[in-house]
Amino acid sequence: MSDPVHTFFSQWEIYRLCIEHNTLFHREVGAILRREMLERNGPFTFLDLACGDSDLTVAALRDTKVAAYTGVDFSAPALALAGNKVAELGCTRTLHEADFTEFLSGNDETFGVIYLGLSLHHLEREAKRETMQHLRRTTAPGGTFYMFEPILHGGEGREGYVKRWAGAMDGPYDPFPEAARNALRDHVTESERPESIEEYLASAREAGFTHGEILFTDPGNFYALFKFHA
Ligand SMILES: C[S@@+](CC[C@H](N)C(=O)[O-])C[C@H]1O[C@@H](n2cnc3c(N)ncnc32)[C@H](O)[C@@H]1O
Repeated sequence: MSDPVHTFFSQWEIYRLCIEHNTLFHREVGAILRREMLERNGPFTFLDLACGDSDLTVAALRDTKVAAYTGVDFSAPALALAGNKVAELGCTRTLHEADFTEFLSGNDETFGVIYLGLSLHHLEREAKRETMQHLRRTTAPGGTFYMFEPILHGGEGREGYVKRWAGAMDGPYDPFPEAARNALRDHVTESERPESIEEYLASAREAGFTHGEILFTDPGNFYALFKFHA
C-alpha cells in the first residue's frame, strides 16, 4: 500500500518520540482510560482500532477484567511491537494487520468497549460518518466507544487547524530531531482532517449512540477524548 498515512506510520520511531515527549497527551488520556477500565466490574471485550504499538491501551487494561483484546492496525512495525505488549495481558488476544474501516465493515462481532485513537481524522467527512455507523453497530448494547481525535476550534477549517498546529510546535517539539519535526509537519499538513466537537457529537447521535461526552481536551484545544454510550 502506498498511501501517505500508511507510509508515515511505517516509520514508527517518529511517532514513538511523540509518545515519549507526551506531545499528544498520551499520559493524560491513558490515565483517564485506565480509570474507566478499572471501574468496569464484570468481564468485557476490548477492540483497539488503529492500535499502533498498543502501549496506551495495554497500560490502561492491566489488572482489569478484560476478557479478550482485539487490535487492528495496518502498520506492520507497530503491530510487531503490539504483539509483545499485549502478551502482558492475561486474556485472549488477537491482532489483525488491516485497514480498520475494512475490518469494521466486514465484521459482525460486537465488543463491550471500543477505543479508536488518533486515526479517524485521516478520513474525509463522509467516510468518518459512515465509519461512525459501523462503530455503533460494533458496540455491544450497553457498551462504550472512546475516541481520541484532533478537533477544529472556534469555527476554523482544516487550513486554520494546520496553521495553528504548526505554530504551536515550538516548545513541545523542540527535543525532536529536525527531520522528525519536518516529517510530522508534513504528515499533519497532508493527512489530517479534523472535525469540530459538534460534528463528532452529531455524527455519533445520527449513528445511534444514546449519549456523548467529552472526558478531556488539552490546554491548546487541539485534541479531545470522547465517550459515546451505545
Ligand atoms: C497516531 S497513531 C495512534 C496509535 C494509538 N491508537 C495511540 O493512540 O497511540 C495512528 C495509528 O493508526 C494507524 N492507522 C491509521 N489509519 C489506519 C487505517 N485506516 N487502518 C488501520 N490502521 C490505521 C497507524 O498505522 C498508526 O499505528
